[in-house]
Amino acid sequence: PVDGPLGGRHVVITAGPTREALDPVRYLTNHSSGKMGYALADAARQAGARVTLISGPVQLACPAGVARIDVTTAEEMLSATSRAVDEGCDLFVATAAVADYRPAEVAGDKIKKTDGTVSLSMVPNPDILATIAARTDRPFTVGFAAETRDVAAYARDKMARKKLDMIVANDVSQSGLGFNSDQNAVTVFSGEGEARFGPSDKRALAVDLLDYISHTMNA
Ligand code: PMT
Repeated sequence: PVDGPLGGRHVVITAGPTREALDPVRYLTNHSSGKMGYALADAARQAGARVTLISGPVQLACPAGVARIDVTTAEEMLSATSRAVDEGCDLFVATAAVADYRPAEVAGDKIKKTDGTVSLSMVPNPDILATIAARTDRPFTVGFAAETRDVAAYARDKMARKKLDMIVANDVSQSGLGFNSDQNAVTVFSGEGEARFGPSDKRALAVDLLDYISHTMNA
């Protein structure tokens, strides 16, 4: 449908964790459930957008009418996201909790137990959000920031460093909010100023947030 504040627009959203392999049976990941990103994808669809959801491994059903692309690693998430943005993209929202590092080498065989300590060498992963924000054909670009302290300062710093139009900061130090829960509370920073949403259910929060984003990008 072309009705709604995002009618006729293409919205690309990343969601969930990434998984970085250590060997054929082990990986590094985090507690992201994908709930926040999936709720935003659903809300964007209801606002009239064509939605591409680039999803790490999660236990959620794809919202109706949303095109989901499944990925595992940060590098796969970057290529799938770049391809989706290549189709022409009006709004990019990065809710995924992307692993900042991956093991320098993936062992071909299962790593064997020894008596000594083990150390792991890690290399940085590409930054998907900064890569999309650096494009000349960049969409309106919204990042998320999960922080445990000095939330506002770190969020504003991320917005400036990654050249974002908007950043949504969650304080993940509060129990029951943020990672893996059904509730979230956020503070949004942009050129338009500052706004707070929640604490509320991630679905309700996603609808309000999407409404705020579409007003800001159309302003
Ligand atoms: O999935 P849920 O259980 O519902 O939880 C939601 C959430 C807490 C994961 C979500 O609301 C959230 O805060 N997501 C961002 C978490 C995060 O890892 O933030 P960060 O501060 O590491 O990254 C900042 C931003 O850069 C994020 O938009 C992230 O998607 C992006 N990023 C980070 C690293 C990287 N290599 N590529 C990226 O695109």
